[in-house]
Amino acid sequence: MDDDAGRARRARELREKIDYYNHRYHALGVSDISDAAYDALIRGLLALEQEFPELLTSNSPTQHVGSPIASEFSSVVHRGRMFSLDNVADADALQSWGERITRIVGRPPGGYSCELKVDGLAVSITYQDGILVQGTTRGDGITGEDVTPNVMAVEEIPVKLYGAALPALIEVRGEIYMPLSAFADLNTRQAELGEQPYVNARNTAAGSIRQKDPSVTRSRNLSVWVYQVGYLMGGPSFSQHSEQMDWLAELGMRVNPENRRVSDLIAARSYVGDALTDRYEHDYEIDGVVIKVDDLAEQRTSGSTSKSPRWAIAYKFPPEETSTRLLDIEISVGRTGAVTPYAVLAPIFVGGVTVTHATLHNEREIRRKDLRVGDMVIVRRAGDVIPEVVGPLPPKRPKSATEWRMPECCPYCGSSIVLPEAEAKHRCVGGYACPSRLREHLFYFASRSGMDIEGLGYKTVDLLLEKGAISDPADIFYLTVDDLLDLERFGATSARKLLDAIDLARNQSLDRLLAALGIRMVGETVASMIADSFHSLGEIMRASEDDLSSIEGIGPEIARSIVEWSGERSNVLLVEKLTAAGVRTASPELKSPDLPATLTGLTLVITGSLRDHSRAAVAAAVEARGGKVRGSVSRKTSVVLAGDSPGVKLRKARELGIPVIDEGGLGALLSEGPAVIR
Ligand code: IVH
Repeated sequence: MDDDAGRARRARELREKIDYYNHRYHALGVSDISDAAYDALIRGLLALEQEFPELLTSNSPTQHVGSPIASEFSSVVHRGRMFSLDNVADADALQSWGERITRIVGRPPGGYSCELKVDGLAVSITYQDGILVQGTTRGDGITGEDVTPNVMAVEEIPVKLYGAALPALIEVRGEIYMPLSAFADLNTRQAELGEQPYVNARNTAAGSIRQKDPSVTRSRNLSVWVYQVGYLMGGPSFSQHSEQMDWLAELGMRVNPENRRVSDLIAARSYVGDALTDRYEHDYEIDGVVIKVDDLAEQRTSGSTSKSPRWAIAYKFPPEETSTRLLDIEISVGRTGAVTPYAVLAPIFVGGVTVTHATLHNEREIRRKDLRVGDMVIVRRAGDVIPEVVGPLPPKRPKSATEWRMPECCPYCGSSIVLPEAEAKHRCVGGYACPSRLREHLFYFASRSGMDIEGLGYKTVDLLLEKGAISDPADIFYLTVDDLLDLERFGATSARKLLDAIDLARNQSLDRLLAALGIRMVGETVASMIADSFHSLGEIMRASEDDLSSIEGIGPEIARSIVEWSGERSNVLLVEKLTAAGVRTASPELKSPDLPATLTGLTLVITGSLRDHSRAAVAAAVEARGGKVRGSVSRKTSVVLAGDSPGVKLRKARELGIPVIDEGGLGALLSEGPAVIR
């Protein structure tokens, strides 16, 4: 039997443990204990406190289970419960929700309010006679923390409402969030101070609102979207939630302009579809859509369960961040010889795809994040951004976790791996004798950033390398039907198709050829600037550093890199071999004589996959009319041609207000000229 001191110690330990996990969960958003184990801790403490009430303290976590009321803030009981929402993840579940509501209300609801589900933290804000008097966090939904000075420090939250007919008392609820631009700025400042970056915007927003010093909160540039009236005394009365929101906006509160009233769930579903497409177009993170019965009387009829209202549902998007095991760290050697470590992960569904690998950038980055092989790690994949390992979950670190070191020799070719002075990236010194580097070089040469040879991806490059059919980029242009038929996966049709694509690439534009060669520091943009100033690859290779750096945008380092490349005998031989294979190494002297130069001065960028045309065919058609095709969107781009699954280029075009056309629009552009896009 425990003595008094032993029991007191045990109660203290339990309280500390529970507080620790509460803090991790509520303030940092990490859950590193199973629900069952957490419950066991709570139950153990409850049992002790019930049997020995003298052990109960006012700040014991059993007094506010699931919610840490930080000691710095006083607690406030909400006027009405701050509910959370039930979730659905697909159209069928949304339909069932609609059917349930229809049963309760006795008819289909008259309309729904569709709103973006912003990923921040819920707050309640109270105005008395138009003056902000209180701001609280959600806490456990019944009791929250009084963070009034911090809420007042959020500039986007008005401290005084506008208008004549102000309510005597109004409590609104909303989501405080950190705009992604503010988050990026904050991390830039952190880096300048030599501090660790913040992991994500949501947790940083939560941390920022729970600061002791409101001036810190102010400096974080938080924002808010208000989404509900929690309590109202006086002021006009409304029958619809959406009307109420419009009124809040008139009073000066931030109501999201993306909110839409729709009449049925079919329309709500298409709102969800649009929201998913535009998920990354906002300056804030969204993790779903909230669909609410719009009629306030219908809301009252539907009522609530103990946790959530029946009249609203969250349609959740696939998670962008989750945790998994770091099984191993391996390295790849890229086309420039740079060595990149990458994580081998236990397969995990995140950001809508299953992720098994993620880049780790360089050894310094692995140290900075303190990643060890065997760790549980947070993995993030947002939009078309490549998956990223955010960091380890130290409480879950197994004893067997091991630190990782860069190998001394390249696992692909056995050459040394070196770290050039003042650089972050290690390099393999094996040149193109390194099979990994050669493979990446060939893949890049054929890729969309280079010669754009459709159908020549990693799989085919690997097969060709295995058979010894190619060992440098020029070999691609000497491939025969027989070479291809030799490879598994290839039949007569697919072989013909690939050879046609290769044939097309013989006429690829000079800037693409230049980019494809993989000269250090010469990517698509630089290649296009250089190709604009020279007529042929020969001229470029004969140019001096001065000639090259006199081009706008080309600095001395790029110029030196090109001159060095041109001076290497293997590269001279490569260009001779390409020329001998019929690859065009000069710009065409003239526009096509048969076609009027209707597209002179027009620059087109292609994004996504085209159904009816190859990219090369589009480029040829545009160039034949005097236009240019470029790889990336800039202010100089005249029009973007978007196919299926367009990438970031489409987003950038929209940001810059550049017209976007589809393949149908391309036909019109070619036949009628640029007037069709104006
Ligand atoms: S309505 C009773 N509307 O999502 C209904 N919530 O998982 C209360 N959220 O706690 C919520 N955007 O923090 C609502 N437009 C929106 C929202 C929203 C984000 C958050 C809110 C809530 C959580 C529910």
